[in-house]
Amino acid sequence: MNFIPMIPDHLDQVMIIENECFPSSPWPRRFFEEELSLVGRAFFFVALESENVVGYGGYCLVDDEMHITNIAVKNGVRRRGIGRKLTELLIEDGLQRGVKAAHLEVRRSNLAAQGLYRALGFKQVGMRPGYYQQEKEDAILMSADL
Ligand SMILES: CC(C)(COP(=O)(O)OP(=O)(O)OC[C@H]1O[C@@H](n2cnc3c(N)ncnc32)[C@H](O)[C@@H]1OP(=O)(O)O)[C@@H](O)C(=O)NCCC(=O)NCCS
Repeated sequence: MNFIPMIPDHLDQVMIIENECFPSSPWPRRFFEEELSLVGRAFFFVALESENVVGYGGYCLVDDEMHITNIAVKNGVRRRGIGRKLTELLIEDGLQRGVKAAHLEVRRSNLAAQGLYRALGFKQVGMRPGYYQQEKEDAILMSADL
C-alpha cells in the first residue's frame, strides 16, 4: 500500500469511490479539481494498492487549524487500517505545517467514521441540527488538539 499526494490523474478512480461512499451528496469532480489547485491551502492524499486508488483523504488549512474535508475507503478493503492511516497522514502533514487543532463534521448515523475519529483522539464538540439537508441529518462536530 502506498500513500501519495493526490493528482488530477487519480480523479477518475476517486470519483467512483466518492459516488459509492456518499451516494446522496457526493462532491462533484470540480470540487476536487478546485481543491487540488489550491496549492498551500488544501492537501489531498490517496491510498494506492497496485496502482489502484482504494482510498483518499484531504484537508484544508485555515491559519493554524486544519479542517478534514474528506476521508473515504473503497468498499471491500475497509477495516484494514487504511482509513486510520489516511487520517494519521493528514494529521502528520498538518503538524508539519504548524497546525494546532483539527476539526471535522460527521453524520450522526456514521458510527464507523465516528469510531475512527474517536480512536485518533477526536472528541465531540458540538452539533449542527439538520446540516445534511437532503436527509435532514445532524452533523456531529469533532475536534482534536494536536
Ligand atoms: C469511515 C471509513 C473511512 C473507515 O475506513 P476503514 O479503512 O474501514 O477504517 P480502519 O480500518 O482504519 O478503522 C480504524 C478504526 O475506525 C473504527 N471503525 C472503522 N470502521 C468501523 C465500523 N464499521 N464500525 C465501528 N467502528 C469502525 C474502529 O475503531 C477501527 O479500529 P479497529 O479496526 O481496530 O476496531 C470507511 O468506513 C468509509 O470510507 N466509509 C464511507 C465514507 C465515510 O463515511 N467517510 C467519513 C466521512 S466523515
